[in-house]
Amino acid sequence: MSTAVTPQPETPRPDTTADTLVTVEGIKVHFPIKRGVILDRTVGHVYAVDGVDLSVRRGETYGLVGESGCGKSTLGRAVLRLTEPTAGRVVFDGTDLSSLKGEELRRMRRRMQMVFQDPMSSLDPRQSVESILVEGLRAHDLDKGREATGKRLRTLLSAVGLPTTSLRKYPHEFSGGQRQRIGIARALAVEPDLIIADEPVSALDVSVQAQVVNLLEELQDEFGLTYLVIAHDLAVVRHISDRVGVMYLGGLVEEATSDDLYAEPLHPYTRALLSAIPVPDPLVEDRRERILLTGDLPSPANPPKGCRFHTRCPWKQATRCDTERPELREVLPGHKVACHWAEDIRAGRIRPHEVEAVLVEEEGISPDVPLVGPASVTEALNP
Ligand SMILES: Nc1ncnc2c1ncn2[C@@H]1O[C@H](COP(=O)(O)OP(=O)(O)O)[C@@H](O)[C@H]1O
Ligand code: SF4
Ligand SMILES: [Mg+2]
Repeated sequence: MSTAVTPQPETPRPDTTADTLVTVEGIKVHFPIKRGVILDRTVGHVYAVDGVDLSVRRGETYGLVGESGCGKSTLGRAVLRLTEPTAGRVVFDGTDLSSLKGEELRRMRRRMQMVFQDPMSSLDPRQSVESILVEGLRAHDLDKGREATGKRLRTLLSAVGLPTTSLRKYPHEFSGGQRQRIGIARALAVEPDLIIADEPVSALDVSVQAQVVNLLEELQDEFGLTYLVIAHDLAVVRHISDRVGVMYLGGLVEEATSDDLYAEPLHPYTRALLSAIPVPDPLVEDRRERILLTGDLPSPANPPKGCRFHTRCPWKQATRCDTERPELREVLPGHKVACHWAEDIRAGRIRPHEVEAVLVEEEGISPDVPLVGPASVTEALNP
């Protein structure tokens, strides 16, 4: 009798390889909407994140973009389990985070730090910079005594480009950009592997944004960091990201390398977003097509059936779009799109129409179309 074991069909999880640091699988975060004082009834849910799969490789920067309210921050918090997901799981460096509790979770959290949009509100105004940084170290038993810690703090400040004299100062004594540097130093202090930066430059002057983005890049090289950078501004994400995921109403609609996404966006939503960004070359700028989305962003408490984008999609078809939710699938190597008609749109077999969205072409620029494109996704969609 043969003792050979019948090989089990392998069920590899997508992208779950040794060079993957974080894998997000089927994550959902639904917030209950409560009514009534006494009974506290749940009358519905906000489907803030509604089934997202993605993975971030070691040492890469994954940019997550989408207009305000599409669920980016909630997803970021769910990755760190600062918000408990309704469904799905997060695997960090081979460990399923939902299996961790208490002390184990706390120890794992050291390896995942967050940088927030508004450093003023995320830094305690009553604490000096020294105390802010030492607090982080102590929370993870990394305060190794006066001398070692003092040295560590000076190294951290120099890494983020602040003078040592900053240690005795308070958050209000710094500019916005400097405060964000303190926020970054606080995250770096505990030697994380992953930094989730949620709109890290959105609150800063444009002139300072580039400096902070450059700093993040330098620190990544120096410390081998992995980043998940969240932004509503496509321009910010483009510059810094290796790969980009585009979110719409709680789901990913497109994911590709930054170069591929900007060279050839395949999802109608991404096309609309990118068409709103002006091109520096005036000849190209004159000729290019601008797709303006009309209609309001639907509420995440009552998302449209079928493709969530169908209420605003200029390519919407009579079948499938309003009945069947498209899966995120690989349409070109490494380029995933959640659209039933991605191939036909790409090949030009389906043309955009003007039923639900206005398509403005070269000749007919109407007076209410901004000639200088909006700087952000939010503006692009709410001109
Ligand atoms: N704690 C919460 N309770 C209820 N709804 C929430 C909560 N946090 C976020 N939301 C809602 O979830 C949706 C997604 O929010 P958010 O993740 O902050 O989006 P983004 O970061 O993309 O702007 C929004 O409609 C928001 O109002
Ligand atoms: S599935 Fe239909 S509605 Fe959705 S993006 Fe594609 S063409 Fe538009
Ligand atoms: Mg947010």
